[in-house]
Amino acid sequence: MNVLLLTGAPRSSRIRDFLAARTDRLQECSLPLTLEAAREMAPDFMVIHGYGPIIKAPVVDAWAGRIINLHNTFLPWGRGLMGNVWSYFEDVPKGVSLHSVDAGVDTGDVIARRPVSLGLEETLQSSWEVLMDALERMFMEQWEGIAARRAAPTPQAMLDALGTHHDRKAGDWLLSLCPQRWQTPVAHVAALGREYREDPAAFAQRCGGERALPPLPPPTSMPQGKAGVEGEVSVRPATAEDSLINWLWVNDPVTRAMFKKNHYVGWSEHEQWYGGLLRRQDMFLYIGLAGGRRIGNVRFDRRAPGTYEISINMDPRHRGQGLGHRMLAAAIGAFRARAEVSMFFAMAKKSNPPSIKTFARLGIHVTAEASPLAVSRGFDPETEVYMERRL
Ligand SMILES: CC(C)(COP(=O)(O)OP(=O)(O)OC[C@H]1O[C@@H](n2cnc3c(N)ncnc32)[C@H](O)[C@@H]1OP(=O)(O)O)[C@@H](O)C(=O)NCCC(=O)NCCS
Repeated sequence: MNVLLLTGAPRSSRIRDFLAARTDRLQECSLPLTLEAAREMAPDFMVIHGYGPIIKAPVVDAWAGRIINLHNTFLPWGRGLMGNVWSYFEDVPKGVSLHSVDAGVDTGDVIARRPVSLGLEETLQSSWEVLMDALERMFMEQWEGIAARRAAPTPQAMLDALGTHHDRKAGDWLLSLCPQRWQTPVAHVAALGREYREDPAAFAQRCGGERALPPLPPPTSMPQGKAGVEGEVSVRPATAEDSLINWLWVNDPVTRAMFKKNHYVGWSEHEQWYGGLLRRQDMFLYIGLAGGRRIGNVRFDRRAPGTYEISINMDPRHRGQGLGHRMLAAAIGAFRARAEVSMFFAMAKKSNPPSIKTFARLGIHVTAEASPLAVSRGFDPETEVYMERRL
């Protein structure tokens, strides 16, 4: 096995030592790589670890699927430069990824990715060290499978989110707002992100004037378009593995518009809430399934003994196909098998006929008078309807 390690200023010699012990020949390069030089070295694989230059298209083509990049974000978030810094600004999942290199910037198929739990007590430097350590460990665990070509990479188009990308200019701009540079507490970067989201125009004025950052796309954008599914609709209780998809669903723009609170739900807020939800005995979340895909969720919140408020949210790719009421029916069936229920109620915006009709299909109808429980939950008769079903 002949491996070329493309590396500039690596954090440590860990990957070099690891590969040296497992290859017949390990070559190293820190300069821009030409096709001629690559051919001369003729590696079976190239491994990129802390290397600046972009790999040119002819090299990428000739070694397709055999150039492995160690990337310190949870793809598809944080493509490009300073992904770790952006992950705090945008409040998205932190983690590490191994991907094969294609013609784009960090857009190649994902060989492995792993979330990394990082709190707000870190600095940019310390969080980077934690991520690099996790990344190197993951590479060393995965290497045998990669070298034996057993890895089954996932195209990024198959991931549920479109992710984010930032170039050098944007990264330099963000870093200019961090006077302590790499020693900046990540909490400072997170606070900048919150300020930006609350009022992008005021933030731009305070922080950049005409050099200000162009508007950033929402970090939770999902692929557009409808996806058909076949077969029966069923539900199962939500698990920790569903956290990410639930976070994407909750931040869908239509969902945000239809719920009481319309703000972007950052990953850190979601993670805390979702972890609590899985432990709670008064909140039950079901995941709808059809044709092997997760199509949405239904939540039951106990508001009084035997009384549950229901909320429903379909994956945007599965809306408008008559699946909502089937998922709700399956969830109500599953829930009634485990809990004594005397009343279900729900609230929906008057501007949301699909929701009102979906609940009506299950006998949860609009009533003139809202229950005091709904009123205490902030029911607004101007903009919302109240629906209930007594059992
Ligand atoms: C609300 C929601 C669960 C409905 O599920 P769905 O599978 O997309 O719903 P459908 O497309 O089958 O529409 C349901 C009904 O509304 C009707 N409908 C859809 N759009 C409509 C519109 N603009 N005006 C009037 N009726 C409409 C459909 O024809 C269907 O009628 P039917 O039951 O008589 O066949 C789903 O759209 C969703 O998740 N929306 C975003 C989150 C949300 O609003 N949640 C509810 C918060 S209370």
